[in-house]
Amino acid sequence: MGQTAQQVLSEAPTTNQRLLDWVTEMAELTQPDHVYWVDGSEQEYSRLTDELVEAGTLKRLNPELFPNSFAAFSDPKDVARVEEQTFICSAKESDAGFTNNWMEPAEMKAKLNGLFAGSMRGRTMYVIPFVMGHLEAKDPKFGVEITDSAYVVASMRVMAQIGTEVLRKIEELDAFFVPALHSVGAPLQPGEQDVAWPCSEEKWIVHFPEERSIYSYGSGYGGNALLGKKCYALRIASVMARDEGWLAEHMLILKLTSPEQKTYYLAAAFPSACGKTNLALLDPTIKDWKVETLGDDITWMRFDDEGQLRAVNPEAGLFGVAPGTGWDTNPNAMRAISKGNSIFTNCALTDDGGVWWEGMTHDTPEHLTDWQGNSWTSDMDHPAAHPNARFCTPIDQIDMLAPEYYEPEGVPLSAIFFGGRRKTTIPLVTQARDWSHGIFMGSTLSSETTAAAAGALGRLRRDPMAMLPFMGYDAGDYLKHWVKLSSAVDAEKLPKIFLVNWFRRTPDGGFAWPGFGDNSRVVKWAIERIEGKADAVDTAIGFVPTAESLDLDGLDISAEQLEAALKVDALEWAEEAESIDEWYRRFGGSLPEELLGELEGLKSRLA
Ligand code: GTP
Ligand code: MN
Ligand code: MN
Repeated sequence: MGQTAQQVLSEAPTTNQRLLDWVTEMAELTQPDHVYWVDGSEQEYSRLTDELVEAGTLKRLNPELFPNSFAAFSDPKDVARVEEQTFICSAKESDAGFTNNWMEPAEMKAKLNGLFAGSMRGRTMYVIPFVMGHLEAKDPKFGVEITDSAYVVASMRVMAQIGTEVLRKIEELDAFFVPALHSVGAPLQPGEQDVAWPCSEEKWIVHFPEERSIYSYGSGYGGNALLGKKCYALRIASVMARDEGWLAEHMLILKLTSPEQKTYYLAAAFPSACGKTNLALLDPTIKDWKVETLGDDITWMRFDDEGQLRAVNPEAGLFGVAPGTGWDTNPNAMRAISKGNSIFTNCALTDDGGVWWEGMTHDTPEHLTDWQGNSWTSDMDHPAAHPNARFCTPIDQIDMLAPEYYEPEGVPLSAIFFGGRRKTTIPLVTQARDWSHGIFMGSTLSSETTAAAAGALGRLRRDPMAMLPFMGYDAGDYLKHWVKLSSAVDAEKLPKIFLVNWFRRTPDGGFAWPGFGDNSRVVKWAIERIEGKADAVDTAIGFVPTAESLDLDGLDISAEQLEAALKVDALEWAEEAESIDEWYRRFGGSLPEELLGELEGLKSRLA
């Protein structure tokens, strides 16, 4: 037995044999200098963040501006999720489907074993027991992340419940846990000086759905390295959900209270950077409606014994896009962030020791230190914060957090929104004709690459239920699972489905709809449809609001803008139907029959 294996066994605070075996095996493989079991305490967090400040990975922010908060700056080559290096290694290639990268599992394991061999030399291996969702849930979902990054430990503490209490529960229930191995892939030679953000040129984010394991190599960036989030709570959880009869989705959850004091819960799936965190923290511009938050990124849902779809947020923090989050557009997020206890990654620094990003304040500071550490002045033509800069903040700092967030069995959903970024074609809001039509809307969800992505302007990417990068199995099987689960349920009890688009343009290129807080007007219309109170036009694509049925009180919007927002254009829809046809053909035979029927229905209504 090697020295590290002996250390694991002598210092391990657990008797769980599967955990001991796995940690020992990974320590022998990766060869860390030390093995440390994370307890999740406040003191531990203070010590680790102190060490990270010492190492230059974190910069402590001015406590008068952002108490107990830190800024991190990544390697410029490690700033986002790496979809081309993300793999689903199911036993059969067909189970990964056409939307995922696949490699034969044994071949991938051999490759990973080579990469991880000695990858933690000179570093500490941290063992983080964690739970996604509630520790007191009927069937709590556990994981253990092994990582050689203290930044990952600190961030995981914000995003999930971690440490000793979780470990005790795993032991008590003798529960299954997802083993998740992470290394930045930058071993240190004896005496070698570390860099502030160690990572590797080569990156691999790999999932083995049958054995429910995760391997992440080479990156320290959140979506690649905080393995409880996208890797577990979406990719692996979607496979668990398929096998166990529930759904793991890329959705926010909102609670709405009407002027009559009736409560409704809404979930919404939008692709990355298309407005989930913003809608989740909605500051309504209409009077008398109360909005509260339950989640901003991931939702786990299941039909209960009464056939009611119930939703929980398995996360404990926000990992939000910083640019565009500001006092004007999202004051609720700003208030949560300002309470401190946050880790900012790739934001700019102000001269008084705070953070800043584009869109945070109305006026741009004259001088900043940009995310790459260079002096920055407001006349420069590159942004000071990276466009994918993020804030990582505990969810309980949200003033508008609904108390139901803490309920293990979650909340009953009345409505589901699907939405993307579309300059044309898709109206502000369309109610599905029925549930099956709603699944059709979700399955054909699409978003345009923005002007920031050179060369690809206006190009459509289909992103079924906003899960394109997160489905842990075949896309057609994923849609079949939605159809199958709901077909066992009383149709009356199913949530109503709506397709929304905050991003449609007027002929002169501006946004047709003001968005942000004014999206409360769309939410109100949707709820009033459920209550049978709001009018709609029965169009070929579904129910679209009449101009009079939307509450526009106090809104400064021209008739042209409103028309552009709500229009159902026959020519645009003929093209759309063609494009959906093309998309559906990519599924081969794996698409559910019902959806082909929906497409035929749409075409015949359009004709
Ligand atoms: P992930 O966390 O990556 O999954 O993304 P997200 O869906 O949470 O996106 P987020 O809410 O952070 O929004 C991303 C961008 O969309 C920001 O630049 C926002 O300013 C912009 N945005 C959000 N809501 C609206 C809206 O109603 N109208 C307009 N025009 N822009 C919006
Ligand atoms: Mn997301
Ligand atoms: Mn978000």
